[in-house]
Amino acid sequence: MSDHSTPESISTTISDEELSRIEDMAAAISCPMPVNADEKPLLMHEISQLLEQQNAVLIAHYYVDADLQELALKTGGHVADSLEMARFGHDHPAQTLIVAGVRFMGETAKILNPEKRVVMVEDEATCSLDLSCPIDRFSQFCDAHPDRKVVVYANTSAEIKARSDWVVTSGIALDIVRHLRDQGEKIIWAPDRHLGDYIQHQTGADMLLWGGVCVVHDEYRSVELQQMMQRYPDARVLVHPESPRSIIQLADVVGSTTALINAVQQSDAKRFIVATDRGIFYKMRSVAGDKELFEAPTAGKGASCVSCGHCPWMAINTLHKLREILLNGGKTIEIDSNVAEKALVPIRRMLDFATQREVDMKIRGDA
Ligand code: 13P
Ligand code: SF4
Repeated sequence: MSDHSTPESISTTISDEELSRIEDMAAAISCPMPVNADEKPLLMHEISQLLEQQNAVLIAHYYVDADLQELALKTGGHVADSLEMARFGHDHPAQTLIVAGVRFMGETAKILNPEKRVVMVEDEATCSLDLSCPIDRFSQFCDAHPDRKVVVYANTSAEIKARSDWVVTSGIALDIVRHLRDQGEKIIWAPDRHLGDYIQHQTGADMLLWGGVCVVHDEYRSVELQQMMQRYPDARVLVHPESPRSIIQLADVVGSTTALINAVQQSDAKRFIVATDRGIFYKMRSVAGDKELFEAPTAGKGASCVSCGHCPWMAINTLHKLREILLNGGKTIEIDSNVAEKALVPIRRMLDFATQREVDMKIRGDA
């Protein structure tokens, strides 16, 4: 466990022992070696053909291997944050959606597209936030606070989403919680304690927080980050809000993966210290190749595999694995239809809210 302080409004929902067990699971994953340069062109070509033959499209998250991101873009697929991944899969005509990311992203794609075949590049790829929020305990927690709207982060299982009123991603969470606060609603927030704490501070909403953490972002260290900031005083500090408060307080920009990429592209600064998964550097470099990027420091003395600044579950998505599932048929995502129908309601609510937000921004001239 990290040495970061616990937000005051956190509830006793998940114990330190359980969080340690999840951390151990993440640490036990061995990250694959990158594909060697001689092999890559042939492999990319073969996979491109297989995707076309199978009427399949590759949708990748910014944190997966650069080769997969490159392939998704070359083959008419998409690389995006979790909100845009959900939208793209919904709008694209392909019959098979192949998701390079973690399980909740595949489940969201399936819920939005029940008639399509959805396959994960790596079926074992999960997320510590998802693991930290089991449905039985979460349900009890919600039942104990019936006066609160249940707002869950997209990094959760289909069952958790089905139990919620709203699903949010980091790209839209602040706006949705502000909207609920303005309607006088009190909130249950799950599962990320740091993101919940950040939103609570930004909005002043009345929120009860579940106690989960992201094993990657929880490992950033403020003392080491301050030392790095002294070494590069001209660098802007970019932080994903799954990071602890002590890190967020040092940020110039706090935002979703897309917001951080936009910040690199649009800022006049030439140097950036980035506190989010280093898979994002591929996209940042492709939009701003002249800028210098530094990985924010992770767990210092206690460094372990989970503290390397790269999500172990994102890391196990590889070109080889993608080729294998295209040749042998990967496991399709199946969700109980009752659960899927219930989960669709809060997901659709979020997507509709996002669409309305874009319309409002256009009217105001912000977009
Ligand atoms: P985004 O919604 O910003 O893509 O983040 C998803 C995620 O898992 C971050 O760790
Ligand atoms: Fe989950 Fe963290 Fe990995 Fe994102 S980076 S998928 S929140 S474990």
